[in-house]
Amino acid sequence: MSKNIVVAIDGYSSCGKSTLAKALAKKLHFIYIDSGAMYRAVTLYFLRNNIDRNDALAVEQALKDIHLEFHSRDYQTHITLNGEEVSEEIRQMHVSEIVSEISAVKAVRKEMVKQQQRMGKSKNIIMDGRDICTTVFPLAQVKIFMTADPKIRAERRYKELKAKGQEITLEEIFENLAHRDYLDTTRKESPLTRAKDAIVLDNTTLNEKEQLEFALERVKPFLDLAK
Ligand code: DC
Repeated sequence: MSKNIVVAIDGYSSCGKSTLAKALAKKLHFIYIDSGAMYRAVTLYFLRNNIDRNDALAVEQALKDIHLEFHSRDYQTHITLNGEEVSEEIRQMHVSEIVSEISAVKAVRKEMVKQQQRMGKSKNIIMDGRDICTTVFPLAQVKIFMTADPKIRAERRYKELKAKGQEITLEEIFENLAHRDYLDTTRKESPLTRAKDAIVLDNTTLNEKEQLEFALERVKPFLDLAK
């Protein structure tokens, strides 16, 4: 059997990583894994169970008690936390506000990376996040680093959350994105940074079709090799 193909996508918060990853997965019939959803689900568990992220023993026990599973329907992310569907709740602001702090905890990252690497062992996958090109799959065939103007990112996110009926202002979203970018790029454990061999995709002025074409061009040579 030919080796499986891994497409790794990293980038700032809300710059369209998951939109691109889902479109690519649909087009190529690859499996899409949203690594951010895993950190969000862990965060939700910590919030619900009042886990102190500075208490190493409590964190260790929590990680043992957390069971995450992805269920793919129509290339949308459906994630369960100990059997409960939490895909909607993990996108809410109470989770977004603290997720970067929780995902900076070393033990949390270690466990998530282990689970992510297991998922990419034998299947063709597309995974997006912050450390996929640098830490999770440093040998991925295709590595993309996404970025976009922060104002545009906030506006896109605002429209998305408003459409879901969430009560939120554009300013709050802008602040949250800036805060998360800061924490994600400055944390000690595998901070968000562009892998040396990752290609930059700035989608400030690109539409979804254009960014998909850009990425497809990068994956195609590997599809031909895998034939
Ligand atoms: O992709 P997202 O915005 O849903 O991710 C939520 C948070 O999870 C993000 O602010 C940082 C963290 N994260 C991470 O540290 N590493 C990843 N591979 C993915 C997400």
